[in-house]
Amino acid sequence: MTTWRIRDFHSADLDGILHLWESLKATNVEPVYALSEVLASCEKDHAVVAVQGDQVVGAAVGRAAHDQGWIVFLATLPEYRGRGIGTSLLAAVENRMAPHGLNKLSALMPESETRVEAFLSRGFVLKKNLRYFERTIPVQRQELEPLGLLGGRILARDLWENVAGMRNEKELLERRLVLPLAEADLADEFGVVPPRAVVLFGPPGTGKTTFAKAIASRLEWPFVEVFPSRLAADPKGLAGALRETFLEIAELEHAVVFIDEVEEIASQRSGEPPSPLQGVTNELLKIIPAFREQPGRLLVCATNFIRALDTAFLRHGRFDYVIPIGLPDSEARRAMWERFIPATVVDDVDVELLVDRTEGFSPADIEYAARSASQRALEKAVYDDGGLASGGDVSIREAVRKGPATQDYLDAIGDTRTTVSKEVYELFLEDIDALGRV
Ligand SMILES: Nc1ncnc2c1ncn2[C@@H]1O[C@H](COP(=O)(O)OP(=O)(O)O)[C@@H](O)[C@H]1O
Ligand SMILES: [Mg+2]
Repeated sequence: MTTWRIRDFHSADLDGILHLWESLKATNVEPVYALSEVLASCEKDHAVVAVQGDQVVGAAVGRAAHDQGWIVFLATLPEYRGRGIGTSLLAAVENRMAPHGLNKLSALMPESETRVEAFLSRGFVLKKNLRYFERTIPVQRQELEPLGLLGGRILARDLWENVAGMRNEKELLERRLVLPLAEADLADEFGVVPPRAVVLFGPPGTGKTTFAKAIASRLEWPFVEVFPSRLAADPKGLAGALRETFLEIAELEHAVVFIDEVEEIASQRSGEPPSPLQGVTNELLKIIPAFREQPGRLLVCATNFIRALDTAFLRHGRFDYVIPIGLPDSEARRAMWERFIPATVVDDVDVELLVDRTEGFSPADIEYAARSASQRALEKAVYDDGGLASGGDVSIREAVRKGPATQDYLDAIGDTRTTVSKEVYELFLEDIDALGRV
């Protein structure tokens, strides 16, 4: 019987590496590095194999990063263990990495790692009391380019938490959208078909765009907004550009696709001669069923004016849910005021009074009132209360330090014209009955 020897890795050894990988898995060892990473390192970094005859019986794969080298894979077939192969493999891969001038060589191994001896005999020290943390980055490198071309981006991770109040809407979206999409396997076990497309409707400024982004953030999926008005300038025409955009979106692994003010391209098809937008509406009606067949993405359409939408557009089968986003209740308004009032003064402001006085205000109205109160208070403190007159930066800063007071907010509220009139809100309530689907 020939004996084993160590040599450099060749591409022809990939099958052998796969076999080693499977033999590890078969003994219930969960390797730290993914197979794709190990294979990439075999080709690009440093790898040695132990062979007996033609058979790969062991392998060590390393990767150098600045001053530190990492062993990303070490495996020996079970029937070859206990012969010092692991120790030799470690020595060989270390030699290969030596020209990098490493000052530390590390290995992160599963807890069930049995070749502790191999590491110890190569001078490694087993570190106690360490913890391994891992987070999967949701977007893969190869997706970044198509995502960039689409103007898509990864949003901050805390947008969902930052949606103040709106508890009912949040709970509904969490249950109907986020749960089945984020826990796709579990949903499948329960026979839940994950949603693919939803409409958010409600008066302007109630937070539809905010929610669309928050959903993307919550799912950790890229956010891709489709702007029909920008596509209109495309030489292929709006319908053609829309089709092309959705083909590009199909290349992405995951995405929340957002079309705001969708009534602009999906309004009632009527009139003689037909509106030039009719072709676009038809195109969108064709795009949605195809979009629905691809997992891992969600189309969110928003509209301020749902009754203007083409009836075919809202028909069952295109959109899973048609969700109203209404004006904030008192709890939501309180949360928003607490968010918008600077932390340094919030305790001195009568927030409950502001909450009362802003019934019927949209989040956008509240934000506007809060900002203008802050601006006024700042101007008043600096120019009117003697800050500048008495001279000196110190006194300005002292005056400003007081911040806005309840009266500043009440004044600003009094001067804010609410965006959503009573009439518009009544129509919205009718729309919920007639068209809402949750
Ligand atoms: N629940 C919320 N908490 C905090 N700010 C909000 C909330 N909803 C909306 N806003 C703010 O109000 C403004 C309008 O919201 P937006 O999502 O653009 O409304 P819509 O898309 O329905 O017209 C934005 O500046 C947004 O940051
Ligand atoms: Mg909007």
